[in-house]
Amino acid sequence: MKLRYKITGGILLVLVLAVSALALAISHDSPCGAAPALPANAQLMKAVVYRCYGPPDVLKFEDIEKPTPKDNQVLVKVHAASVNPLDWHFMRGKPYFMRMMAGFGAPENSRMGVDFAGTVEAVGPKVTRFKPGDEVFGGRDGAFAEYVTVREDRAVALKPANVTFEQAASVPIAAITALQALRDKGHIRAGQKVLINGASGGVGTFAVQIAKSFGAEVTGVCSTKNVAMVQSLGADHVIDYTKEDFTQSGQHYDLIIDNVGSHSLLEYRRALNPKGAVVIVGGPSGGSWIGPMDAVLRAKMLSPFVSQDFSFFMAELNPKDLNVLRDLMQAGKVTPVIDRRYKLSEVPAAIGYLEEGHARGKVVINVD
Ligand SMILES: NC(=O)c1ccc[n+]([C@@H]2O[C@H](COP(=O)([O-])OP(=O)(O)OC[C@H]3O[C@@H](n4cnc5c(N)ncnc54)[C@H](OP(=O)(O)O)[C@@H]3O)[C@@H](O)[C@H]2O)c1
Repeated sequence: MKLRYKITGGILLVLVLAVSALALAISHDSPCGAAPALPANAQLMKAVVYRCYGPPDVLKFEDIEKPTPKDNQVLVKVHAASVNPLDWHFMRGKPYFMRMMAGFGAPENSRMGVDFAGTVEAVGPKVTRFKPGDEVFGGRDGAFAEYVTVREDRAVALKPANVTFEQAASVPIAAITALQALRDKGHIRAGQKVLINGASGGVGTFAVQIAKSFGAEVTGVCSTKNVAMVQSLGADHVIDYTKEDFTQSGQHYDLIIDNVGSHSLLEYRRALNPKGAVVIVGGPSGGSWIGPMDAVLRAKMLSPFVSQDFSFFMAELNPKDLNVLRDLMQAGKVTPVIDRRYKLSEVPAAIGYLEEGHARGKVVINVD
């Protein structure tokens, strides 16, 4: 065998071994660790934690140390939290590529939950925007707990007086996703025909209302049991996906927000105007390795060859957009839709319900 074939073969073998080793490391599930000992005299709080990946029964309802705010942080007594698909992705550590952030084998951060609403109990000495007693909402790792600390310049904002803590806790991830998908990725304009696929879920119920607030003509797609609810949110047209396929109807849209991934990109193309756009927000969980990212990769490959735009994005929690949403709620243009309520100890059941994929609006955790 010639030397260059030997070298090429050697390099390929090393590559295959390296990729296999990485794949094994990423997909390996470590056993659940024991709860760490708590410092003597520690002030305690209840929280939902996990120390290994898996189904909802890996979640434990435990006493952990109550946090104290750092100089630039506020300590929030959480009254309500809400559940997002992100929570069960972290709980299961799937798709596996997420473990590059969450931890190989087992989660590095044992705390669960992001969306919260509550009352500021204490502030660090450098905090200027908030004071004890302020009612706030926002996003922070570890929201499934009696208390969270959050930096004052991060994702936390004053709660409008006309919404409850439960409603405010429904907002952060789902509503910011809807807002950024429509405004930043979809460049929505008044008068445009906008279709929301998956209009009855967490993101969809906000997307319908926010698209209406921009003056768009909105079509929502959902199943029979949710048609009246989506109409009540202000949708101009509602398509029941169990009876009609919107990609076959002959209607054309300027913007499609896809929360579901129920159609191929070519089918979406059929429902778009020549300069229309699809913003991929979510999709079927797909394989364990990259989940919905395969649709994203296909969208990237298709986009340069067609006149329409296919894009994906990851929402970013920030105080500016929480304040935009606060104003929309205050003006009565956005009202969160709550499906079910669970207690803090029932987070595993709440996540199990959300994982079934048919929530009507948001699933809320009552922490008090
Ligand atoms: N890119 C990002 O930054 C980002 C941020 C947040 C969420 N996401 C992703 O976005 C997706 C939606 O999130 P979510 O919080 O809205 O989830 P969700 O609350 O679980 O949404 C479930 C909804 O999907 C609807 N649905 C299921 N099959 C459908 C179909 N074939 N056609 C139309 N609607 C259908 C259900 O309605 P019916 O009961 O009527 O079927 C249900 O109301 C998830 O995949 C999530 O991971 C992405």
